[in-house]
Amino acid sequence: MKEKKSVEPGIKDSRFPPSLFFVYLIVLLLMSGMHTGLLVGMGRLGWNRVFQVTAPVLYWAAVAIGLTLFTRRQIRRTYEEPMHKLAEATKKVAEGDFSIYVAPLNTLEKRDYLDKMLIDFNKMVEELGSMETMKTDFLSNVSHELKTPLAIIQNNAELLCAGELTGEQRQRADIIFSASRRLGDLISNILKLNKLEKQTIAPTTETYNLCEQLAECALNYEPAWERQGLEFEADMEDCVKISADPALMELVWNNLFSNAVKFTKPGGKISLTQQSDGETIRVTVKDTGCGMTEETKKHMFEKFYQGDTSHSTAGNGLGLALALRVLQLNGFLIKVESEPGKGSAFTVIMPKAEKEVMPG
Ligand SMILES: Nc1ncnc2c1ncn2[C@@H]1O[C@H](COP(=O)(O)OP(=O)(O)OP(=O)(O)O)[C@@H](O)[C@H]1O
Ligand SMILES: [Mg+2]
Repeated sequence: MKEKKSVEPGIKDSRFPPSLFFVYLIVLLLMSGMHTGLLVGMGRLGWNRVFQVTAPVLYWAAVAIGLTLFTRRQIRRTYEEPMHKLAEATKKVAEGDFSIYVAPLNTLEKRDYLDKMLIDFNKMVEELGSMETMKTDFLSNVSHELKTPLAIIQNNAELLCAGELTGEQRQRADIIFSASRRLGDLISNILKLNKLEKQTIAPTTETYNLCEQLAECALNYEPAWERQGLEFEADMEDCVKISADPALMELVWNNLFSNAVKFTKPGGKISLTQQSDGETIRVTVKDTGCGMTEETKKHMFEKFYQGDTSHSTAGNGLGLALALRVLQLNGFLIKVESEPGKGSAFTVIMPKAEKEVMPG
C-alpha cells in the first residue's frame, strides 16, 4: 500500500494552489487571444503568406523568451540564492564560527520546506555553539583544578631532588619533576588558549621596540641552541616600533624559536631576520631542520596537532595554535614556507606603529 506523505504543521504545501491556477489561466488566455487577434488582423489587412507565417513564430518566440527569463529568475530567487547563503554559512560553521544565523525567506504563514531547513540549521548551529562552550568551560575548569595538586607534586619533587638521594632515587625524583613540569606547561597553555579564544584577555596594546623584544627572546634560547650545537644568525634593524600586547607577542616569538630548536638536528642553522619597508615589518624565523609535509602544513595551527610524532614527547601541539590566536587578535599575518628535509621559515607580517606626535 502506498504510504501517504504527511505535511508538517505550519508548512505551506498545496497540490493545487488556486492563485497559481488563475495566474496561468489569465496569462494563457491573454496570449492565445493576442495570437488569434494577430492572425485575424493579418488576414484582414491581406499581408503576404510569408509574413503571415513568420509573425506568429516571432510572437511565440518572444513569449518563450519572457517565460524563460521569468522561470530562471524564480529559480534563482527561491532556490539558488538561499542555497548559496546556506553554503557560505555551512563553511563558516565548519571553520568553527557558531555565531552564524541564516534568516528564513518567507513570513510565518508562507513558510515552505526550505524555510524549515534554514530554521533547523540555525537551531543546530546554536546547539553546536553551546556544546563547544560547555566543552571549553569543562576543560578550563578541570585544568584550573589540576593546578594546585600539580604545584604540590612539583614543589615536593624539587625538594626531593635537592635532598640527599641515592643514584636511582635521584633519577626517579628527576622523572617526577620533569613530568610534572611538562603537565604544568600543558595546563598553563590550555588555560592561556582558552582565555584567548574567549577573548577574556583584551590585548593591552602598547607601542614598543620590537627589535629589543626579539633580541631578548633569542638570547633566552642561546643555552638551548648551544647545547644542541646549532648555529644562530640574526639580521635586524636597531629600532622598529609596533603596537601590540608585548606579553602575548613574546609567546609567538618563543614558540617560533622553540620549534626551530626542537625540529633542527645538531649542526643545523637558525636565522632570525627582521626587515621593514614604508609601512610593514617582516620577522622571519628560519631553520634548516626536518621541514614539514603538506599534511603537517595543513594542520599545524590546530590545537593538539603534532606532525612529527618522533618529537611528540616534547610539547603538546598547542604552541602554534596559541601563536596564531595571538596574531589574529592583533590583526597580524603569518606565512609558512617549508619543505621536508630542507627546513622551515615562519614569517610574521605586522604594520609599523603610527609615529608618535611630538609635542610642538
Ligand atoms: N620549525 C619547524 N620545523 C618542522 N616542523 C615544525 C616546525 N614548527 C612546527 N612544526 C610542526 O608543527 C607541529 C605543531 O607545532 P606546535 O608548535 O603547535 O606544537 P609542538 O611544538 O609540537 O608542541 P608545543 O608547541 O606545545 O610545545 C609540530 O608538532 C611540528 O610537526
Ligand atoms: Mg611548539
